[in-house]
Amino acid sequence: MNITFAAPSVPSSGALVVGVLEGKKLTPTAATLNKQTDGALERALANGNFSGKKGELLEVVAPAKLKNSRILLVGLGELAKLGEKELQDIGGAAAAQLLRSGDDKATFFIDKLRGGKAAPERAANYAYGALLRSYRFDKYKTKEKPEKKPKLKEIKVMVEDAATAKRLFQKLEKIAEGVFVTRNLVSEPANVLFPKSLAAEGKKLSKLGVKVTVLGEKEMKKLGMGALLGVAQGSVREPQLLVMQWEGAPGGKDKAPLAFVGKGVTFDTGGISLKPAAGMEDMKWDMGGAGAVVGLMHALAARKAKVNAVGVCGLVENMPSGAAQRPGDVVKSMSGQTVEVLNTDAEGRLVLCDALWYTQENYKPKLIVDLATLTGAIIIALGNEQAGLFSNDDKLSEQLTAAGKAVGEPVWRMPLGPEYDKMIDCDVADMKNISGGRAGGSITAAQFLQRFIKEGTPWAHLDIAGVAWSTKDKATAPKGGTGFGVRLLDAFVAANFEK
Ligand code: BES
Ligand code: MN
Ligand code: ZN
Repeated sequence: MNITFAAPSVPSSGALVVGVLEGKKLTPTAATLNKQTDGALERALANGNFSGKKGELLEVVAPAKLKNSRILLVGLGELAKLGEKELQDIGGAAAAQLLRSGDDKATFFIDKLRGGKAAPERAANYAYGALLRSYRFDKYKTKEKPEKKPKLKEIKVMVEDAATAKRLFQKLEKIAEGVFVTRNLVSEPANVLFPKSLAAEGKKLSKLGVKVTVLGEKEMKKLGMGALLGVAQGSVREPQLLVMQWEGAPGGKDKAPLAFVGKGVTFDTGGISLKPAAGMEDMKWDMGGAGAVVGLMHALAARKAKVNAVGVCGLVENMPSGAAQRPGDVVKSMSGQTVEVLNTDAEGRLVLCDALWYTQENYKPKLIVDLATLTGAIIIALGNEQAGLFSNDDKLSEQLTAAGKAVGEPVWRMPLGPEYDKMIDCDVADMKNISGGRAGGSITAAQFLQRFIKEGTPWAHLDIAGVAWSTKDKATAPKGGTGFGVRLLDAFVAANFEK
């Protein structure tokens, strides 16, 4: 999508997009267009349900006296109630309609209005929402009929202080790039995206100034990452540990980095504890945590965030085979702690525990946030609307919760505690990888991870199993990979560590 900003003028082709406030109140440009079309907009508003509520849409096609294809009326609701997220959602709703209607060009008019955010800020956020919504993963569709394909290529945003709007948008555009990186990774099938090819995608970040290193099986063996390697041993795909460092803090390299750790199971069959066939294809996006970490590192580097950050992704494929690990196997993690693997399908925690330990040993981070499509139980608890947040630190929890709210990627804090921790005590080894029952399945998974967090390190775990993929369209994300986590953590970094 090509998005540009310019001082207001009315083009003679394409769609025109104008705002209508709550109560069918036309914005100035809408009023002007209404006059030019002999009152077509007022007539359209007179008969129908459209009232100008936030996100409502009304198309006036082939408007009288104009050569434009259509005028799209967009409900803005009450101006004072429009925060950044709401503005983005409105931009997304407008884009979705334009993508359906078949225009290749649209012009948004952002008028100066009294109350609410200033026009340039509104312009940038509408454009950002429209950009996020216009994402499409269609590289494998070779026979799509042209009339089914969205044609929208160009959005012109007309706003008086175009330079300010453009400057604001440039930063948002970088974050969208990061979101798209994640969506692409999450959407790829597992025959294309496997540990080595995902690591290769991570290496591309070196173009943005990110230092990327990749460890293979040999190196991980030397480090004693028996838990991660145990998961990988049933697959012919070699596991990888992807490490991405961004050093943008004004203080230089010495400042302790923020660490982001991702579960990157490029396909999760369950291993010998095999999953049922129905729906198993979903497990191609069991690398959603790692995908979010790569997208986040892209966003931070592309917008030159003034922070030191390290992203670490444990990349494996969980397969059943003659070489696969068995239920009852005991593995030794890099931390020295031993684990009895009672269910080979509880593999994410085995991958993460070594990635978490590696991250602490090597980077002494200021804090750690891990992301993982870790448990089906979190979907039972929270559905597909919020991610589960587990943390040993109240401040970190509050910061993440606030950031999630601000960008529309909400997280809900779940409990941790010694009673839950006991549930993974084991007679055979230091711990077992499942509790035995189904009770509190997401919590016991988080307790497992916490056993690999050193005393004094603020840590948060985001269980994104319910939100990494969506089966329905959202305001700023078409169905499919959502890119959940990128905007959340980018906002978390910007709000708390770049001041
Ligand atoms: N990758 C799955 C969790 C998952 C399920 C993600 C559904 C997205 C959608 C994870 O590896 C898994 O299999 N977890 C098991 C744990 C159980 C064996 C204790 C689960 O949730 O059933
Ligand atoms: Mn599993
Ligand atoms: Zn998994």
